[in-house]
Amino acid sequence: MTAITAPRGTRDILPAESWKWSYIISTASRTMRDFGFSEIHLPIFEHTELFSRGVGETTDIVEKEMYTFTDRGGRSITLRPEATAGVMRAAIENNLCAQGASAKLWSWGPMFRHERPQKGRYRQFYQIDAECLGIAGPMADVEVIALSLELFRRLGLKNLEVVINSVGCEKCRPVYRQKLVEYFSSHKSELCGTCLDRLGRNPLRILDCKNESCGHVADGAPDIFDSLCDECREHFAEVRAGLERLGFTYTVSKRLVRGLDYYTKTAYEILSGDLGAQNAVAGGGRYDNLSSAIGGGKIPGVGFACGLDRVALVMEEQGCSFGERPGVAVYCVAMDDESRGTVQALTHSLRMAGISAECDTAGRGFKAQMRAAGSCRFACIVGADERAGGTVAVKNLADGSQVSVKACDVAGYIGGKL
Ligand code: HAM
Repeated sequence: MTAITAPRGTRDILPAESWKWSYIISTASRTMRDFGFSEIHLPIFEHTELFSRGVGETTDIVEKEMYTFTDRGGRSITLRPEATAGVMRAAIENNLCAQGASAKLWSWGPMFRHERPQKGRYRQFYQIDAECLGIAGPMADVEVIALSLELFRRLGLKNLEVVINSVGCEKCRPVYRQKLVEYFSSHKSELCGTCLDRLGRNPLRILDCKNESCGHVADGAPDIFDSLCDECREHFAEVRAGLERLGFTYTVSKRLVRGLDYYTKTAYEILSGDLGAQNAVAGGGRYDNLSSAIGGGKIPGVGFACGLDRVALVMEEQGCSFGERPGVAVYCVAMDDESRGTVQALTHSLRMAGISAECDTAGRGFKAQMRAAGSCRFACIVGADERAGGTVAVKNLADGSQVSVKACDVAGYIGGKL
């Protein structure tokens, strides 16, 4: 029989990598806490409508990339392709923003998109996501961008580029959309098939097409800043001023439109030069109409998500520190078969005292056990003499020194040295 492998675009995060992910997540957790964000856990699958209405019918995600199925109750269910719509649904359903209250929420977990797998792009990937709900003013946008950059600073990421734009609002975007349709219609022969298709349905997306010819045309497209209403213009100016006040450098790109339709006003991305084609380590922005699109009242929001897989890749490539690889402190070694039971009891007593400890459970010989102890700080060795005397030989594996300690004092002795 052929062996079953992981589905295309998914992968196993094995121990050699998983401890690095834990480091990234614990750094994120501390950073979120320091910015006043609380952690939430949400369902991995939602009603399909949440994404078709929230993310947008004409987005690539909804049109081509969702894992959608009918469940046994006949409902259309989708594995979440992103977290923002779910966070907003949860806030509405649980009244987190009732009576003008605001909520700062973060979470992390797997997302699912049926994309063409390549370096840094998977079908099951992981995001760290933060959302600030209920605040319409530009200071919240600045706080979210600052949060993402502080997280990356703490992780030691270098050579990042912050790109920002304003995509307008329901008042000014239709005007801009019309200008784009007129402009791109007169350049139809230079557009790729996908962009010709986007022209009637989602012309803003043509602006960030990676096709060279479309890129040339997009470079000459009307500038959104000429179409922004006063409110959006002022909001953008304040976001820029806020970022500058905090000392962040960024570039403005009128071609940054993002692949999700819920954005209003601020849109931003953080790019890394060390990732190849999939160079965005984080993306986000403001989404003041998402709540009403999914049936809630008016709850403004702004947030970001960073790709955990991509952050780990960049950190690896840049030689960033993941802290110390966690391991157990003590290995308990049996010199003979008669000592194995005593050794397992000793190991358990150390664990009960809060000291990480391991012993062999596979019946391996003394030498193999000592080899296994190699990565620990101490080996606690028990043989016939130790059993007879109620002692343990405690070997400091860093300097090779060894002392005999009463069995009942081992936890105290080692605890004092760690
Ligand atoms: P997004 O730009 O689609 O935005 O995704 C955010 C980040 O997730 C990307 O910058 C990238 O690092 C990572 N990512 C996306 N797709 C993949 C993939 N197939 N494989 C690996 N990594 C990937 C959102 O999802 C929005 N919900 C962000 C947001 C939060 N906006 C407001 N609040």
